[in-house]
Amino acid sequence: MDLTWGGDRAKITQNGGLLQLSLDRASGSGFQSKQQYLFGKIDMQIKLVPGDSAGTLSSENWGSHDEIDFEFLGNVSGQPYILHTNVYTRGKGSREQQFYLWFDPRLAFHTYSLLWNPQQIIFSVDGTPIRVFRNAEGLGVPYPKSQAMRLYSSLWCADDWATRGGLVKTDWTHAPFTASYRAYRADACVYTNGRSSCSSSKATWWNQALDSNALKKLKWVQQNYMIYNYCNDAKRFPGGFPPECALKI
Ligand SMILES: *[C@@H]1O[C@H](CO)[C@@H](O)[C@H](O)[C@H]1NC(C)=O
Repeated sequence: MDLTWGGDRAKITQNGGLLQLSLDRASGSGFQSKQQYLFGKIDMQIKLVPGDSAGTLSSENWGSHDEIDFEFLGNVSGQPYILHTNVYTRGKGSREQQFYLWFDPRLAFHTYSLLWNPQQIIFSVDGTPIRVFRNAEGLGVPYPKSQAMRLYSSLWCADDWATRGGLVKTDWTHAPFTASYRAYRADACVYTNGRSSCSSSKATWWNQALDSNALKKLKWVQQNYMIYNYCNDAKRFPGGFPPECALKI
C-alpha cells in the first residue's frame, strides 16, 4: 500500500486508478509511494485545481535527501498557473526554472513526466521536454545517483509565495480545493535492502537522451514559455553562475 496524509482529504478510488487531493483551511493532503527507486521514469496525469486556485501549490516529485520537483503554482480564475521546477542535490537547490503552459492545466488531465537516469533528468509535459538537468559531476556538481527516492504528490497552501510572489492570498470561501491525479506509472528500478531491481537489461529510459526532434521541442518551450531560469539570473549570482549553467542544452 502506498501512503497518504491529510486524512479524508486524500482519496484513492477506482481501484487505485484515481487519486484526489484536497486542501481546506485546516490542512492539505498528499501521497507517497511505498517503494523506493533508484532511477526511473514516472508519468502521472494531473488535472489541477479548477477555477480560483490562488495560493495553492500542487506537486509531483521524486524525493528523499535529493529531490526532483514539479510544482504547480495556482492563480485566480482565468490567470495562468506557473510550473515551477527545481533539482536539489545534497540538500542544495536554488536551481529553479519556471514556465507557463501552452494550455490551461485546470481543464483536463495532462501527463507530467520525470525521467531520471545516470546521465540526466528530463522533465516533460505531454511528451514535450521542458527542462533537462545534466549530470555535471565532471564540473564538481553533485548528481543524485546513490540515494533511492520515493514518488510524492501533494496539495497545500503556499500563499506566502506561490501566486504573484505572495501578493494574492488563498480565498478560503472557495475551499475545498481539489486536484486529481491518475494513471501513475513508475517504470523504475525498485530499491530494497541496498539492492536495485534493475539488472543488465535496462529499459529504454536508462540511456535516454534528447534526439534532434526533442531538442527542437525543448527550444520551442524555452523560447516561448520559460519565464525564469536561474542560469540567466546574473543579479542572484554576483560571484558567477553555478557550474552546471555552463552546460548549454
Ligand atoms: C498569475 O497571474 C498573474 C497575472 O497574469 C501573472 O503575473 C502570474 O505569473 C500568474 N501566476 C502565478 C502563479 O502567480
